[in-house]
Amino acid sequence: MKPDMGKIVEAANYIGARIGEVPKFSVILGSGLGTFAEKLKDRVEVDFSEIPHFPKSTVVGHKGRLVSGTLNDTPVLVLQGRFHYYEGYSMEQVVFPLRCLLYLKVPNLIVTNAAGSVDPDYRPGDLMLIKDHIKLHGDSPLRGANYEAFGPRFNDMSDPYTREIRDLARQCGKELDIPLKEGVYFYMTGPSYETASEIKAINILGANAVGMSTVPEVIVASHAGMKVMGLSCITNMGTGIIDQKVGHEEVIQAGAAAEESFIKVLQRIIDRWSAL
Ligand code: HPA
Repeated sequence: MKPDMGKIVEAANYIGARIGEVPKFSVILGSGLGTFAEKLKDRVEVDFSEIPHFPKSTVVGHKGRLVSGTLNDTPVLVLQGRFHYYEGYSMEQVVFPLRCLLYLKVPNLIVTNAAGSVDPDYRPGDLMLIKDHIKLHGDSPLRGANYEAFGPRFNDMSDPYTREIRDLARQCGKELDIPLKEGVYFYMTGPSYETASEIKAINILGANAVGMSTVPEVIVASHAGMKVMGLSCITNMGTGIIDQKVGHEEVIQAGAAAEESFIKVLQRIIDRWSAL
């Protein structure tokens, strides 16, 4: 299937008319990380339900709205919530907001998420800069006819999490004395958390963390040449690493507990990145 440009244009034009200036950054906030949006000045809030053709957010802990505003005079658009494959949406619907951002010509993307650790050296509360990802799930948001206006049929994936921005983010973490791990994110479609054997396999395959989001959006952003940074908040140890069950409540709470350092480092990164 080809992306439905008519719907994308209508939704993007609606967003553009509501928020005014085209933001320099878009930030997608994962589970339990929503309060970053409160740091924006001169906020305009738009519920996803108001935007034509936007899917509806069904996940507890996701507000389901856009918040636009400025951070030290830099225009930023925050998505409080996103769409996941496990909600029953097609990949095309999962990346619909991204297509709107691309149509509006937003140049930079920050993706955040809650993730489980598959690495015994990681702990809940750790922040992980995403270095790369692994997706073995067969579906892709780029499957089907390609729309050349967004990017090429066969797209390079050698630097989806822009190296230059990772260097900058690492530096920001050091300056603020906020430790940042750097690792590989493994995409699972969920909604079940993993079995202990899956966690073991994911670790052997070379990942450090696992989650149910982010990768579809990053594929579409990278396809279209956006600069991307990804930050995971480790909310739990993957099944079987410790003798404990994994649950959504715990994921939300651990996300909230790490939020202060998460917000601090994100603000610094946007300040530095906007000056590039
Ligand atoms: N697995 C998959 N997704 C997640 C996890 C997990 O352990 N924690 C938060 N999101």
